[in-house]
Amino acid sequence: MPSTATAHTNIALIKYWGKKNTRLNLPTTSSISLTLDQFYTKTTVTPNSQADQLFINGNATDATRVHNFLNNLRQYLGDFEPLTVTSNNHVPTSAGLASSASAFAALTAATARELNFNLPLTTLSRLARRGSGSASRSFYGHFAIWHEGIDDTSSFAESLNAPAMPIALVVAEVSDAAKKVGSTEGMRRAVTSPDYQDWLRESAKQLVDMKQAIQHSDIEKIGAIAEKNALSMHALNLTARQKPFTYFTCDTQRILSIVSDLRHQGILAFATLDAGPNVKIITTLDSAKLVEAALLSELPALHVQTATSGSGIIYD
Ligand code: PMV
Repeated sequence: MPSTATAHTNIALIKYWGKKNTRLNLPTTSSISLTLDQFYTKTTVTPNSQADQLFINGNATDATRVHNFLNNLRQYLGDFEPLTVTSNNHVPTSAGLASSASAFAALTAATARELNFNLPLTTLSRLARRGSGSASRSFYGHFAIWHEGIDDTSSFAESLNAPAMPIALVVAEVSDAAKKVGSTEGMRRAVTSPDYQDWLRESAKQLVDMKQAIQHSDIEKIGAIAEKNALSMHALNLTARQKPFTYFTCDTQRILSIVSDLRHQGILAFATLDAGPNVKIITTLDSAKLVEAALLSELPALHVQTATSGSGIIYD
């Protein structure tokens, strides 16, 4: 019998940017995210008698990372039959959002269900973390916190049980001319920055303030803290002692200044960026169209899309 699970992707408001244990994917900081309604992965697993097989969006794929991940699950859940994994990503590449968070969350949930393991979300979160750190947060709707932990069992995410609020995220995709540095490599370089220890201290304070802003539904404060956190994360890349780099392009800079102009005009808008040049603008549902229009009037070729708060893991 096949088993299917759907997970939404998430955007970090307090970022994970550095590993204290590479094998276990233990982060150097705790992080906070917003799950997004627009972007998700739906994964079905079916036992087969031969070998693990993977199909992503209809194409057979030999993804070593997924094979390793399934073998990891076997160590924890006990040996299980080879699986055919069919995964459909509804995370348009044009959105500039990584699909690994939703993909590893959906795969973990579907596999556990297939094996009749009724595991708590915190355990699924911990297992998915091994595939991709950000996947640990994609089991929960709305806002989630990933506790950095000190070992395999203590590093997992849980819901922040936040009140509903009209938060929106405008995703602005710029052309990716810069050579891509993967998140693991980016983190490896960033931790060599002389500013890294300061960033850790600052991030711990921002985490406390962010939790409070979320409980108060204070979208302006959420945006302000998230922008500070993201920009200082990107500053680490520039100041890395080993192979400094940046994800920013000219268009990234232009969007950042449009966002700042919008704020001067009294519109709630704050930027955040992940391991790439695309900018995600935190705003309110009421202002999202205005933000989109401001971006398109200066950069007409830009691809923009608005997302809002999404739900946690869903089983068919
Ligand atoms: O989960 P990974 O390995 O794709 O790393 C995610 C890194 C960031 O997206 C930049 C930050 C985060 O917390 O999601």
